[in-house]
Amino acid sequence: MKVLACYSFKGGVGKTAAAVNLAYRAAQSGYRTLLIDLDPQGASSFYFRVRPDSGSKWTKQTFEESDVLLTQIRESDYSNLDLIPAQRSLRHLDILLKQTGSRETVLRRLLKKISHDYDLILLDCPPSISRLAENLFIAADLILVPVIPTPLSERTYDQLVQFFKDKDYDRKKLLPFFSMVDARKQLHQKTAVAMRQRYKRILRHAIPYSTDVERMGVHRAPIDLFARGRQANRAYLALWEEIEQHL
Ligand SMILES: Nc1ncnc2c1ncn2[C@@H]1O[C@H](COP(=O)(O)OP(=O)(O)OP(=O)(O)O)[C@@H](O)[C@H]1O
Ligand SMILES: [Mg+2]
Repeated sequence: MKVLACYSFKGGVGKTAAAVNLAYRAAQSGYRTLLIDLDPQGASSFYFRVRPDSGSKWTKQTFEESDVLLTQIRESDYSNLDLIPAQRSLRHLDILLKQTGSRETVLRRLLKKISHDYDLILLDCPPSISRLAENLFIAADLILVPVIPTPLSERTYDQLVQFFKDKDYDRKKLLPFFSMVDARKQLHQKTAVAMRQRYKRILRHAIPYSTDVERMGVHRAPIDLFARGRQANRAYLALWEEIEQHL
């Protein structure tokens, strides 16, 4: 079982779009996949039309007894793909993680306990650099980081790499890819070229800026279901195939 996190501490860069489309792709390729929506905004749960039970919550017990989390697993409409939908209690996940006292390894241990039914666990993460983020850096085998090729996003990625260096986290886990790329913009082209020279691990395939991705919110479905032959859908497929080589 592998854990893949879609993470950036910059908001609105395409983490959720990637988590949803890559989870769907992985499931279609035969991986028994579990998508965990860790963002209280609940966007990936929304796209997959999955809601939590009204009573279910992330509590201290969730980390102590893995059975609690197992009861929160929901089937999606697609084969091989299950979900743990977001809940409002995720707003307090950082405090909860602090209370468990066991620092950055608690999420990793929890995921290990629920891993036997899955080949892949994908985490859709909120945009923050917090105790949860530090847990993710330990728990994930790979951390997919969408980067819009602009100076501000480049700076955010530089800061993340620096954080990994300072804290001695495994930098080989970081797999950045360009997101929302507008090929007509010179700034995007230039930033992408410069970043590729500095960071050799940036994935070759990028996700273009496309209204088809935005339309996922209208269809409430992965892009493949309503825009199969289109550029953005082909880009997610190519990205998935490249990520698969790193698993
Ligand atoms: N490739 C793309 N082309 C055009 N729009 C996109 C693309 N990817 C995402 N979007 C749109 O940008 C917005 C933010 O995308 P998304 O929710 O995937 O980002 P996020 O990083 O998960 O955001 P947050 O930090 O709030 O969780 C959404 O409205 C989404 O539809
Ligand atoms: Mg998101």
